[in-house]
Order: sequence, then C-alpha cells, then structure tokens
Amino acid sequence: MYSQRLENLPPYLFARIDALKAQKRSEGVDVIDLGVGDPDLATPDHIVEAMVRAVKDPENHHYPAYDGMLPFKEAVATWYRNRFSVSLEPGNEVVALMGSKDGIAHIPEAFVNPGDYVLATDPGYPVYKTSTLFAEGKTHLLPLRAENAFLPVLDDIPADVLKRAKLLFFNYPNNPTAATAPMSFFDEVVEFAREHDLVVVHDNAYSEITFDGYKAPSFLEADGAKEVGVEMHSLSKTYNMTGWRIGMAVGSPEVLSGLTRVKSNVDSGVFDAVQHAGIAALTGSQQCVADACAVYQERRDALVKGLREVGFDVQAPKATFYVWMPVDDCMTAAAKFLNDAGIVVTPGVGFGESGEGYVRFAITRSVERIEEAVERIGRVAL
Ligand SMILES: Cc1ncc(COP(=O)(O)O)c(C=O)c1O
Repeated sequence: MYSQRLENLPPYLFARIDALKAQKRSEGVDVIDLGVGDPDLATPDHIVEAMVRAVKDPENHHYPAYDGMLPFKEAVATWYRNRFSVSLEPGNEVVALMGSKDGIAHIPEAFVNPGDYVLATDPGYPVYKTSTLFAEGKTHLLPLRAENAFLPVLDDIPADVLKRAKLLFFNYPNNPTAATAPMSFFDEVVEFAREHDLVVVHDNAYSEITFDGYKAPSFLEADGAKEVGVEMHSLSKTYNMTGWRIGMAVGSPEVLSGLTRVKSNVDSGVFDAVQHAGIAALTGSQQCVADACAVYQERRDALVKGLREVGFDVQAPKATFYVWMPVDDCMTAAAKFLNDAGIVVTPGVGFGESGEGYVRFAITRSVERIEEAVERIGRVAL
C-alpha cells in the first residue's frame, strides 16, 4: 500500500520508547521521562500576550507571505546583528519557517537529484536522513567520535562520495552529543564547501541554550559562509516555543530561493499571528533566555554530579539541554533504566549508528525529579 519511499524510512525508535513508557505508566510505575527534547518551561508571558493581541486582529487572518512577513524578517535580521554581529538583508536573506524542521525537511528537495549524496553528522537529528530519503538522495554519515571532540573529520569522506555530494548538514551546539564547535571548524567547513561545491546547512537550534558564560557562534560568522549556505534557526528552544512552530532560515539568497520554491508548493507560510509573537520574542528583553539557561544549568549540575557519584563517567556540557553519557550497550542500558528504575533515556542509536555506546539524558525535568532519577539509577546494576 505504501510507497517505497515510506517503506525505506528507518524504524522510528522514539515511537517504540513512547509505547514502552506508556506501558510502564499503566503498570503504576512513577516514570521519570528524561527522554524528550521539549522544554517543560512555559513560553514567556510577553510573547503569549503578543500572540493574543495578534490573533484578535483580522489583518492576521489571511494567507501569510510564503517567505514570512517583512517585520518578522527584519526582527530576525536585527537579532542576528545584535547576537552574532552578522548582517542580513531581510528581503532575501531571511525566510520564516514553521520551526527549523520545516527548513531541514524541505531543503534537500531543492538541491538533491536522485542518487546524489547528502553528508550528515551522525549521531544527529533524524530528519537530516529522512529528508534526504524523501528527495531520493543517499546519506553519507560523518561519525562524531569522542576522540575528535565530536566534530566530523571531513578528510575522511571518500573521493567518490564527494564527487556526488550536494549538501552538508551539521549542527553545533549538537543534539545529541551536546558538543560545541570552535569558529575554526566553521571556517574549515566554508573552505571545504567551496572546494567541493556543497550547499552547507548549519542547524543552530541550540545556540542560545548555553552555560558557564559560553556563547555559541553562528555559522554565518565565518568568512564566506553566506556564499556557501544557510543556517536553520528556531525560536523553539530559545523561548520555550516548540509547539508554536516558528523558526528561520538565513544566509545565501540563492539557497533560500530554492527552499522557498519548494515550500511555496507545500505550505502557505507561517500564521501571521505566530510571526507577531516571534517578533515579540526576538525584539523583547532577552532576560527570559538567561533565566531559562540558569534553570537548565542547575539541572545539568545536579544530573552530572549525581551520575558521577554513582560511578558514571560523564562530561558537563557547555550547551544544549542534553547530557551524553557513555555506556557499554545503549539499548541494554536504556532498557534497564526503564525496567529497573522507571527512568526514560534515549539510546544513542536512535540518532544513528555512531550513537552506539551512549545514552542521552534531556534535562527537561525539575532538579527534584533529576535527583530522584539519579538515586534510582544508582540502584541499577548495569
Ligand atoms: C538539532 C535539532 N534541529 C532541529 C530541531 C527542530 O526544532 P524545531 O522544528 O522545533 O525548530 C530539533 C528539535 O528537537 C533539534 O534537536
């Protein structure tokens, strides 16, 4: 019944975890879910209020512009200038998205012919692979290993793959490894993309969730980045707006024009009222972002300290709301944590084959629940 394209999709591990979680809950287990990458914090009030005002205005009830309303694109450009010292032309260097997933899911269709390669960091956000599959491209995975600080080794990509490679997806601060990348790596990517004629897509969804004074860069800060690619960004994690579906693609006008040509045949833009809420988020006080990071930092410290105390070797991340912990066998560890302790974590292989040997904790629960989780984990024999 289903197309070959659908049949080719990898099994969705997260659906299986959800089913196991539901089963445990139905057995009366007090499950602590450290699996989901969705903030438990509320969207700040001033953003909600902007949405309420905008939704009451009939001006906002029509079809939106495909690539976003100018005031939203201007707000994005101003935010990029203030935050990263990157200048963007709102008219053609910014496109509004229904979350960064929207951009990631559609961009291969604009650039990838059947059989072309897409390079994607692994483990990684699963949509890099599935969007490639929908465009009938082939993914070549770039393993992220601890010994390379979870950065891909671009020189390891075979020449025959590079010859047919069209697109490169990468993501720092990284989900799921929580690794960060230095500017020198972004410079290397620009050089590499020029040399091999690649369209670069940097996924920067976590740039604002940072700790200990670390500030994550934009790929567009690298010299020449705007000529080789785009950055997908999002208000989801920064302002606890995952459910609102608002983000932006910024960078090369040529690349964005390809993306918009695909999207204008698929969707009809982001609801204008949501874009007004996005303007309130990007142009309002950024104290709410600092406050959220302080909450995550306290949780990170509780989790890392607790896991170390019970004997796990775990690094404290500088960014993202994830902790990436080495284990012998990720499926066994995740199953034991759930069955013996009622704790949900995500097995690393859910993000790709190089995720084996790790589980991911999401610090999207309170310090009290994290402390309880660690205490229970301490009682599980791995
Ligand atoms: C690395 C990464 N990129 C992109 C996304 C998509 O986020 P959104 O579509 O909400 O902007 C996520 C969401 O979990 C993510 O982890």
